[in-house]
Amino acid sequence: MMQTTLTLTRPDDWHIHLRDGDALRAIVGHTAKQFDRAVVMPNLKPPVTTVALAQAYRSRIELALRAANVPLGSFTPLMTLYLTDQTAPDEIIRAQESGIIIGLKLYPAGATTNSDAGVTDLLGKCAKVLEVMQRVGMPLLVHGEVTDPEVDVFDREALFIDRVMMPLRRAFPTLKVVFEHLTTKEGVDYVRDAEGPIAATITAQHLLYNRNEIFKGGLRPHFYCLPILKREVHRLALLEAATSQSPRFFLGSDSAPHIKGLKENACGCAGCYTAVHALELYATAFDRANKIEQLEAFASFRGPDFYGLPRNRGTVTLVREPYTVPLEVPYGDETLVPLAAGETLPWRMR
Ligand code: DOR
Ligand code: ZN
Repeated sequence: MMQTTLTLTRPDDWHIHLRDGDALRAIVGHTAKQFDRAVVMPNLKPPVTTVALAQAYRSRIELALRAANVPLGSFTPLMTLYLTDQTAPDEIIRAQESGIIIGLKLYPAGATTNSDAGVTDLLGKCAKVLEVMQRVGMPLLVHGEVTDPEVDVFDREALFIDRVMMPLRRAFPTLKVVFEHLTTKEGVDYVRDAEGPIAATITAQHLLYNRNEIFKGGLRPHFYCLPILKREVHRLALLEAATSQSPRFFLGSDSAPHIKGLKENACGCAGCYTAVHALELYATAFDRANKIEQLEAFASFRGPDFYGLPRNRGTVTLVREPYTVPLEVPYGDETLVPLAAGETLPWRMR
């Protein structure tokens, strides 16, 4: 008989963009409704480069949660710091002692939205910081794309493995590394088989779609994110990894809101908005692969296990009932178009 309900231990989102100000207030409730904890990306303007800035940002998130009527204590933001060429080794010690910082985020300079302040030469400029991170057990969360404009946009992740990831992990073999929003078969093979403490997050869009989706019947900007959607062979490798028994692959939505007008634009921003329906999207992908029973490990167990945090208590329930994705959601004075807007998905959160 076809399974009609699915009860999971409360899941976490290990990669989210919550933005700031009106935008933060508009969306934080979506993530808090679906997830118990979320790893909050630091690519604000200006970026969250110090513990003091992260503490202030965390307080703004707490206020926004209160304004959105999220019950106190029902959602925990796990903060990150934005690594730069100038990050001081002492900042890592402060981060560790603060108890609110879960990792440092590496944006190669120029790789994506608000990455201008990112790292220009990881091993050249950040060796001391990486050494301290390795020593104290502070994870490095990696946007894994080379930024060389000569490199084809579809090849940037695969090349990053050879040019940056492998030298990094040779130099710092016990540094905890999360390869964020993995998008390629090369990435899956590397993370699955590598020695030492490495894991990867996978988004819903990279499990559901290949790059054809961006061009189906015309240019469809809401399917544009970075790293960009890849060929079907890569999607299948990601789906296989996510639904496998490997402890190294877990949920990170990379939900990245941009106002409708900046997506539907001559130079549209990168990012898919998936926070309002993340679990519905992931359930759809797992169900289509006939692996719905693997969703709990992916969404609720492997993330905390890798980070050394307790698994959540409490549960959420998904039911097999049609869920039509809203065409738009409010975003301050503007609107957002969620991924798969207007489409009907087979699962909904109860
Ligand atoms: O598509 C993306 N959007 N990829 C990123 O790496 C950043 C994100 C954003 O902040 O908009
Ligand atoms: Zn991201």
